[in-house]
Amino acid sequence: MFRLGPLELQSNLFLSPLAGYTNLPFRLVIREVGGVDLCTTDLVNARSLLERNKKALKLIETNERDRPLAVQLFGSVPAEMRDAAVDLEQRGIASVDINMGCPVRKVCRVGGGSAMMTEHEKTAALVKGMVDAVKIPVTAKMRLGWDDENITAPDLARALEDAGVAAIFVHGRTREQGFSGTVNLAGIRKVVEAVKRIPVIGNGDVTTPEAAKKMFDDTGCAGVSVGRGAFYNPWIFHQTRHLLATGELLPEPKFEERIRVMCRHLDLMVEVFGEEHGCRMFRKVAPWYAKRFGPVNEFNKKVVSIGSRAEFHDVLERYLRWRQQFCDGDGLLLPRYALAPMVASFMQDPASAQRQSVPVPKGPVEVW
Ligand SMILES: Cc1cc2nc3c(=O)[nH]c(=O)nc-3n(C[C@H](O)[C@H](O)[C@H](O)COP(=O)(O)O)c2cc1C
Repeated sequence: MFRLGPLELQSNLFLSPLAGYTNLPFRLVIREVGGVDLCTTDLVNARSLLERNKKALKLIETNERDRPLAVQLFGSVPAEMRDAAVDLEQRGIASVDINMGCPVRKVCRVGGGSAMMTEHEKTAALVKGMVDAVKIPVTAKMRLGWDDENITAPDLARALEDAGVAAIFVHGRTREQGFSGTVNLAGIRKVVEAVKRIPVIGNGDVTTPEAAKKMFDDTGCAGVSVGRGAFYNPWIFHQTRHLLATGELLPEPKFEERIRVMCRHLDLMVEVFGEEHGCRMFRKVAPWYAKRFGPVNEFNKKVVSIGSRAEFHDVLERYLRWRQQFCDGDGLLLPRYALAPMVASFMQDPASAQRQSVPVPKGPVEVW
């Protein structure tokens, strides 16, 4: 279906790393809903991994239901990046991704993240050291370049192909852009055209199956990776696979299904992080599900202070009763409360794309 070096994958759709969000519970939810195969962890500091730092080890926590898994590393010291890749291979991780897109100053100052896009020879040498040390695929995730005057992704992708990477993931924006403006599909196309053999996986603002299809069609990319869109809509991979296979759009998931998956997500958070910490972390997750519930103030006000699973279910029950006033006899939202369908930024006219950009979740990273 999709070849990533020696790995045979069942899907050409991928979950993008979202620091603070793409933890084990979220990946398991995404996998249960279906349509995705290779998922990636949040970025992990190579040195912290080698030092067996507790936080780094928690970031790579996985289980047999979370396969195949890629771990994303960041760092700029070649020996550390190489040893961390070897360590991950020995742990049974399927693939190693290298972060070359992170614009956070702390990461760039030491030559990691997007700073890697500015020094091709040094970056290619670091990558080659990793590729030579492991049998599992090594991939690179980058932006289009540092800024509009420095669109370096095509040249860098070519250099990294020569260094032996198995694929390139490219977010169709520059570092300077942050998350503003629309994703540049023509820019992604240039990366696709720059490489000879390896797959290029496009990324950025894909929030609907139609948008994923447009990214495939307009860029010629071999795969599409989705980050925030999967947070809004964990069904996006399943819906996209169906659209690509049949040309037919599945209906939106029903409200009851959204509630079921949200509750499952909480159960997995509690399983992995324990009840207190899992519930605290879920405070920032639940409002993302709620974005597609219709009127939701009552829910969002209360869910941000839950401390236990019982409290969450109490908040949810109260919300379900409150929400009935906006529904007809069949429990469907009355037309005046129905939500407008989502439209990806690069499928809108530029003015409305600017108004309705995909929200960036809060977290330790300000800009990605
Ligand atoms: C909160 C947040 C955290 C992110 N963390 C990472 C990360 O750890 N590594 C990385 O390569 N990209 C990271 N990104 C960038 C995403 O992987 C992705 O490239 C970007 O969000 C565009 O895709 P999307 O529109 O589908 O979300 C992050 C983005 C956000 C919003």
